[in-house]
Amino acid sequence: MSRDITQTPAWSRLRDACDRLSTTHLRELFANDPERFPLFSRQTDGLLLDFSKQRLDQEVLQHLVSLAEAADVSGWRKRLFAGDKINVSEERAVLHPALRHLADTAFPSGELDVMPEVRKVRQQMAAIVEQLRSGNWKGYTGDTIRHVVNIGIGGSDLGPKMCTRALSAFAHPGLHVHYVSNLDGAHLAPLLETLDPRTTLFIIASKTFTTQETMINAASTRNWMLAHTGSEEALAKHFIAVSAHPERAAEFGIPPAQVLPMWDWVGGRYSLWSAVGLPLAISIGMSGFERLLAGAQAMDRHFCETPLIDNLPVLLALLGIWNTNFLGANTSAIVPYNESLRHLPGYLQQLEMESNGKTVNRDGQPLTCPANPIVWGEIGANGQHAFFQLLHQGGWLVPCDFIATALSDYPLPGHQAPLLANCFAQSAALAFGKTEAEARSELEAAGLPAAQREALLPHKVFAGNQPSTTLLLPRLDPYHLGLLLALYEHKVFVQGVIWGINSFDQWGVELGKQLASRVLPVLNGDADKTTLDASTRGLIDWTQTTHG
Ligand code: F6P
Repeated sequence: MSRDITQTPAWSRLRDACDRLSTTHLRELFANDPERFPLFSRQTDGLLLDFSKQRLDQEVLQHLVSLAEAADVSGWRKRLFAGDKINVSEERAVLHPALRHLADTAFPSGELDVMPEVRKVRQQMAAIVEQLRSGNWKGYTGDTIRHVVNIGIGGSDLGPKMCTRALSAFAHPGLHVHYVSNLDGAHLAPLLETLDPRTTLFIIASKTFTTQETMINAASTRNWMLAHTGSEEALAKHFIAVSAHPERAAEFGIPPAQVLPMWDWVGGRYSLWSAVGLPLAISIGMSGFERLLAGAQAMDRHFCETPLIDNLPVLLALLGIWNTNFLGANTSAIVPYNESLRHLPGYLQQLEMESNGKTVNRDGQPLTCPANPIVWGEIGANGQHAFFQLLHQGGWLVPCDFIATALSDYPLPGHQAPLLANCFAQSAALAFGKTEAEARSELEAAGLPAAQREALLPHKVFAGNQPSTTLLLPRLDPYHLGLLLALYEHKVFVQGVIWGINSFDQWGVELGKQLASRVLPVLNGDADKTTLDASTRGLIDWTQTTHG
C-alpha cells in the first residue's frame, strides 16, 4: 500500500513552516542572509542549479529532504535502476537509463540484463547514420539522400525534434531533418511540396505502430513516394521504422532490416535515448548522439550516488512540491533564454504532465493533495514581450525555471551578454519587485507633477516574491543537453514517488481516442449519429451543412 505522504510528520512540519514564511518576502530572505546564493545553489558536471530565489529557508529545505526520505525516494530509485516492474498498471519495468548505459557491463543485472539488445540496436543505428551521413544511402534513382522526415507524435516526435533544434549548431550541413506529427494535412503537405522524392527518406516512429496520426501521415508519405517511384520495391530505399511492433512495420511494407526495435520497458516520453533518437543521430552523428547519452548517464550517476540534499533532480522535485503543495501554485513556467531550446517547453509538458498529471495513486486510491501543476512556457526575450506582464503584476503565483547557457553556439557580436542580462534581470525583478516607496521616488526623480505621480503610482508597483530557479549550462552541446534532460526525467520520477503516483502509464489519453473512433464514422456518413451527445451532433451537422 502507498503511504499517504500528507500524513507524515515531515508534511506537517512543512505546513507549519509555510505558515511561518507566508508573510516573508524574498527581499527579506535575501536581506537576512548574504550567503543565500552559496547556500541555495548546487552544481554537477558544469550544470548550475540556483534556487536561492525560491521562497524557502534552510529549515524548509531540511523538512523537504525529510519528506523525500519519508516517501522512500532512495528505495524507489533502487527499484527503478534494478529493473523492478514499477509501472504497476502495465506490469512493466522502466529501464530508459539502460539506453544511456555506456559501460561494458550488465544493466540492470543478471538475467534481466537488457544491454545485449540495446547495444545491437545502437550498432544498427550507427550503420544507418554512417550510410546517410557519408552520402552512401541512395534513393530509387541512385541519388544521395538529402532530407530525412520523421513521422511520429508525442514521445516519438517531441524529444528528437527538440534536440535536433537544440543541437542545430552540430548538424550535418548537407542533410536536413524534418519532423511531421500533426494529423492536419497542413503539417505534411507544405513540406512535401519542398521535397524531392529521389532524395528523401522517411522514418516512421511509433512504439505501438497504431497511433492514428502517425499511421495516416505514414500512409500519405507512402502514397506520395509510390506515385513517384511507381514500384513497391523502390519504396524500400525510402523508409525506415522504429517500433516495439516490428511485425506491424513489416505489414506496412518496410523491410525487416530497416525496422529498429524498441521495447515495452521504454515509455514513449522516455524514448529519446532509444532508436527513436535516430533522426537526431543522423543530424549530429552517432558520436554526438553518444555524447548526449553520456551526459544523461552522468546525471543518472549523480542521481544515484549523491546525498538527497545535494542531489539536483531531488532538489528540483522538492522545489516543485513546495511550490505546488504548500505555497499553492497550480502552474509552472519553463523559460529558456536560448533560441535553440525553443521546443523544450513542449517536450517538458509531455514529460511532466503525461507522467504526473493524475489524481489517483499507484494503488488506485484518490490522492490527498494536488499533483502536477500545469506546465507551459516560451523562450525568453520573446516571452518578456508577451506574457511576462502577468507574471510581474497579474497577481498569480507562477514559479519559473529559467534556463540559459553561458556561451552561445551562434556567437553574433553583441547578442549573448544582453540575452543573459535579460534572463538574470527578469528573475531578480520577479523576486524583488518594486515597492511603492521606490516607485514614488522614481516618479519624483522624473519630475512629474504630484497629481500625475499619484495617479501613476499603483501601475508602477511590482509585488515581487515570485519564485524561480535558474539553471545554467556552459554551452548547449550534446553532453550538457543530456545532463539537463535526465535531470528533468528524474525530477518527474521523484515527484511521482512523493505523490505516490505511477509516473509511467498514461491512461488519460485513451478516452479521447475512443470517442474519436465513434465520431469518425458519423462524420464520414457511415454511422448513425443518435448515439452521440447533442453538442457533438450539432458540431457534425454544422460541418456537414457548411462544407457538404
Ligand atoms: O497518446 C499519447 C501517446 O500514447 C504518448 O504516450 C506517446 O508518446 C504517443 O502517444 C505516441 O505513441 P506511439 O509512439 O505508440 O505512436
